[in-house]
Amino acid sequence: MIEQESLMLKRSISKNPNKKLNLLVVGGGYVGLTMAVCFADIGCNVVCVDKQKAKINSLSKGKVTIFEKDLDRLLVKNLKSKRLQFKLLANSGDIENSDIIMIAVGTPFDDKLDGYNQRDIYSVAKEIARFINKYTVIVIKSTVEVGTCDKVEQIIKETNPKADIEVVSIPEFLREGSGVYDFFNPERIIVGTGSQRAKEIIKELHKPLQKKKLVYTTRRSSEIIKCASNAFLATKVHFINEMADFCEEVGGNVYEVAYGMGLDKRIGREFLKPGPGYGGGCFPKDAKALASLGKRVGANFNLIECVICANGNRIKGFGQKILRCVKNIKKPKVAFLGLAFKSGTDDCRCSPAVDIVLGLINKGLKVCVYDPAAMKNAKTILKSRVFYAKDEYEAAKGADIIVIGTEWKQFKSLDWQKMGRFVRNKFIFDMRNIVDKQETLKHGFECYKIGC
Ligand code: UDX
Repeated sequence: MIEQESLMLKRSISKNPNKKLNLLVVGGGYVGLTMAVCFADIGCNVVCVDKQKAKINSLSKGKVTIFEKDLDRLLVKNLKSKRLQFKLLANSGDIENSDIIMIAVGTPFDDKLDGYNQRDIYSVAKEIARFINKYTVIVIKSTVEVGTCDKVEQIIKETNPKADIEVVSIPEFLREGSGVYDFFNPERIIVGTGSQRAKEIIKELHKPLQKKKLVYTTRRSSEIIKCASNAFLATKVHFINEMADFCEEVGGNVYEVAYGMGLDKRIGREFLKPGPGYGGGCFPKDAKALASLGKRVGANFNLIECVICANGNRIKGFGQKILRCVKNIKKPKVAFLGLAFKSGTDDCRCSPAVDIVLGLINKGLKVCVYDPAAMKNAKTILKSRVFYAKDEYEAAKGADIIVIGTEWKQFKSLDWQKMGRFVRNKFIFDMRNIVDKQETLKHGFECYKIGC
């Protein structure tokens, strides 16, 4: 039966190869917005819905709501092409017309649940179920707990027993700051489904995107691949961070060590850059969610649990390191340059830089902050507990130590002679190892780095 239908479907798609797929994207955040704009750019008719009115108004006017390279250009281009619309809520027509409904809503970690809060996923499933009146593929794009696709399928079938749907897991692997690049240059597109019919539609959806990158698995394996990948990368990052501490104690250079290790293709060169610890909207929550699910099912992830704890201690420890640099100064003032969890984004979720600033102000230090893109998001966390500067040099006024919190390119070429005229004392704590130490020495600064 299914084979016959998939054959019919294949014929129907091939009969009108120019039939544009109608895609409804639910969620206009870092993932959903990037997906909506990029799928419109490769030819889909896309409606993107979000519950935040201000966000929908801004996007409909062509103004991006997140800092993401190339997204603004593609947003304007695809609004103009009429292939892309933003709406507050999907009306029944949007749902009835959709060939694919992509759920890309947030699944933040909830300490009370000790796992992802998937409330929005389930309420969207219930909402769309009422209006599905033809074969529709439901794609779960959000990072979810293993077994969520089964639950979404159950909710839709219970709400609308006649709904002819297939729920497919296609996790996103977009790095913030390079989301558009990663969309058009996927290393793999994991597709969790057992349905031939769904595979046809998903193949069609990704046709312009190097179809050969499609990797088919079961839904549960697909859900696991996503959080397992992030937990592994987080572990790799923490490994090099501990190696950096070791190098500091025994006089090694962690960059030489990382380079030498990375030449072994089984280790690889990526994600061996030391820093204050991993952060962001994904690694912290995915590692925690996987560890808690493992505990719940009796398959403890002891290694991941150690990484989570050690990464948290590392970030706290960096606050101590900064305090030690200025221990002989009364009421030291800190100029903190960089607040986003990494460069290329305005995202401050679980940002080590922001956590370290909070630690410093809790110790009574005066902190003046500057970030080229993340000031607005940082203000929602730091509120009036810090001073906000308009640039790096204003932040340095009267400062006893300059901390490099995020590896923004512009911090690599600061004018240290000019900085020297603004600061009160000449200490630098470069927790991203991007400053030219020799250059700072020339202007009388003492510069602390990580692992070298
Ligand atoms: C990550 C995954 O890379 C991406 O595939 C997934 O879809 C979402 O989560 P992202 O959270 O944007 O992407 O950030 P990423 O670039 O992976 O970095 C994660 C954290 O590790 C950041 O805090 C970053 O500063 C840190 N990191 C990364 C290091 O400290 N050293 C490195 O070498 C690489």
